[in-house]
Amino acid sequence: MINLIAGNSSKVLATKISKKLNANLIISEVKVFPDGESKITLKGKPSKSKTIIVQSIFPPVDSNLIKALSLISKAKDYSNEVVLVAPYLGYARQDREFLPGEIITMKVLGKLFPVVGASELIVVDIHSKIGLKYFKIKSKNISAMPDLARYFKKINLKNPLVVSPDQGGKERAKEFAKEFGSEFIALKKQRNRKTGKVQIKTEGLDEVKNRDIILVDDMISTGGSLIKATEFLKKQKCKKVFVACTHALLINNAENKIKKSGVTRIISTNTIPGKTSVVDISKIIVKALK
Ligand code: R5P
Repeated sequence: MINLIAGNSSKVLATKISKKLNANLIISEVKVFPDGESKITLKGKPSKSKTIIVQSIFPPVDSNLIKALSLISKAKDYSNEVVLVAPYLGYARQDREFLPGEIITMKVLGKLFPVVGASELIVVDIHSKIGLKYFKIKSKNISAMPDLARYFKKINLKNPLVVSPDQGGKERAKEFAKEFGSEFIALKKQRNRKTGKVQIKTEGLDEVKNRDIILVDDMISTGGSLIKATEFLKKQKCKKVFVACTHALLINNAENKIKKSGVTRIISTNTIPGKTSVVDISKIIVKALK
């Protein structure tokens, strides 16, 4: 029987995956000491067979990361094969040296996961596939775009157009639009690497006029990218703006800020649990695990 360890960040998702796989579900319990250290205890013993660990690495990122590493290490004591499912992989955006001296943290993770015992990594809609090239173990990036698109088919929209807020997300928007059955475009976005501030560089855009828009992105962190994109699209006289994204971190009241900029509704997946996380990814993870 396959073992499935539920990391503390992904208990509900792990339970769903475990039921679908008919796996031996092992819960991990976390106690935090006054100095901030975590003590992690497995509430069951994995067998020798394959062990899957489900631990999404969202904020607190460093803390959820060390838990993932510790769970891999412990699982490897029992099991021959350890697979880490990290639906959201924090640090994925740090995959290049944008400014001199910056550390490529994805390169560090690429070294750490195999050293502690992981033989495979599964992620969902990673920011860019560049990040996975640092992993010498088997790695898989799966897309939640078809499932998100199918959710949007149930919403009544007026002449909808799929829009990526930046060129980097063009392929994702294309995949979404294909399943959804509409056209797509990608805006030009520029981020100041020192301040993090975002600007939309696309000029006048007639094709959005009087149409409902679905802004498609891999993730929302502060909401800065989507707010700028929405303000731009509203200026071009679009109708309603909806957001479809895989990972809704929604840091610092981002949901309210995004809604205030004119977004009608945000739909995300349960890679990160939350109010907007209505699309379940357990099925695509199970498929990737088989
Ligand atoms: C960047 O290129 C990503 O695809 C997201 O658009 C971005 O990281 C989201 O961050 P924020 O919500 O802070 O703009």
